[in-house]
Amino acid sequence: MRILELASDADTRALGARLALLLRRGDVIALHGDLGAGKTTLARGLIRSLLGHEEEVPSPTYTLVQMYEGPGFPLWHFDLYRLENADDVQELGWDETQGGAALIEWPDRAGKHLPACRLDVFLEISGDGRRARLEPGGEGWQERLDERFA
Ligand SMILES: Nc1ncnc2c1ncn2[C@@H]1O[C@H](COP(=O)(O)OP(=O)(O)OP(=O)(O)O)[C@@H](O)[C@H]1O
Ligand SMILES: [Mg+2]
Repeated sequence: MRILELASDADTRALGARLALLLRRGDVIALHGDLGAGKTTLARGLIRSLLGHEEEVPSPTYTLVQMYEGPGFPLWHFDLYRLENADDVQELGWDETQGGAALIEWPDRAGKHLPACRLDVFLEISGDGRRARLEPGGEGWQERLDERFA
C-alpha cells in the first residue's frame, strides 16, 4: 500500500504518467473516488504519457468507454458512473479488454465482472489537493509498485 499526497492537478497527472511506465497488457487499474476526486485527471496523465502528449482524452462520461491504440496494446478507459446494471459491461466490449489494459472509473459499478487481479487507486479530496492510496491486488502488482514507488 502506498499513500501519496497530490498537491495539484499536475501531481495527479504525474501519478498517471508514473503508472503508464509500469502498465502492461492485461492490466486493470480501478480508479475509485467521489465525483471530482481526480479519476479522469489521473487517466488523462496516464493515457497522454502512453500515447503522446498531444492526445485528446475526453472523459467517457456519456460514451462509458473510450478506446486508444497504445504502443504495444490497446487501452480502454471506462467511466461506469452511468452504468445501470453490472452485466451491461458486456455490451461495452468488457471481455476484449483482456487483450489490452483497462482504466476504470467507478469500478464498483462492474460488480462481479471486476477482476480480482488489479491495482486499486483510491482518490480523495485532502485540503486543496488530493490524496491517493494505491492498493495492489493479485499477482505481480506489489512487486511492480515496490520497484516504481520505492
Ligand atoms: N491533486 C489535485 N489537486 C487539486 N485539484 C485536482 C487535483 N487532481 C485533480 N484536480 C481537479 O479536480 C477536478 C475534478 O477532476 P476529475 O474530473 O479528474 O474528477 P473525477 O474523479 O474524474 O470526477 P467524476 O467522478 O465526476 O468523473 C478537476 O478540476 C481537476 O483539475
Ligand atoms: Mg471522471
